[in-house]
Amino acid sequence: MPELTFIIHLLTVSLFISTGFVSQCSAQGLTIVRNIGEMPQDNFGRPGLSHITVAGSLMHGLKEVEMWLQTFAPGTHTPIHRHSCEEVFVVLKGSGTLYLAPNSHSKSPGKPQEFSVFSNSTFHIPVNDVHQLWNTNEEEDLQVLVVISRPPVKIFIYDEWLMPHTAAKLKFPYYWDENLHQTTVKDEL
Ligand SMILES: *[C@@H]1O[C@H](CO)[C@@H](O)[C@H](O)[C@H]1NC(C)=O
Repeated sequence: MPELTFIIHLLTVSLFISTGFVSQCSAQGLTIVRNIGEMPQDNFGRPGLSHITVAGSLMHGLKEVEMWLQTFAPGTHTPIHRHSCEEVFVVLKGSGTLYLAPNSHSKSPGKPQEFSVFSNSTFHIPVNDVHQLWNTNEEEDLQVLVVISRPPVKIFIYDEWLMPHTAAKLKFPYYWDENLHQTTVKDEL
């Protein structure tokens, strides 16, 4: 009965494939404890940056919050940007400067306020306030743990502080969500 053998063979192969697929998916969803040292890190084309999505919306299926571990080499910084989510920082190492333009009714962010941030300090960015974080310490890396609400993040980028809010460019999906976003979209099709 060569046909029966063939069918059994087909069933075995498809079972193997689907089991493999399921365990790969559940490895993402169900691995409770993950070693941050073994998680993917990348600079996403920004020299001096290291970004790890510690717990993410697209990567781990989180709905309400997302957490990043980021390291900025001396002199490096985030873009000037805003997002309609809350963001909390804890400075783990180093020091730097936070530039923050509180949300006002003017057309552009304008001259930001400056705040020194330091190891074991924490700060949060109110929804839609335009901000930028710099490692202004020439000696040391600045390492921060970041929590955002409402992931995945939708970031509006400004070229400079006087750029009108309406001219800020939306970058979505953001760099670290790009590949995952494509994968997710493909999976849904
Ligand atoms: C940060 O502050 C907390 C609260 O005082 C303290 O327990 C902790 O050891 C500090 N961490 C560092 C790295 O200084």
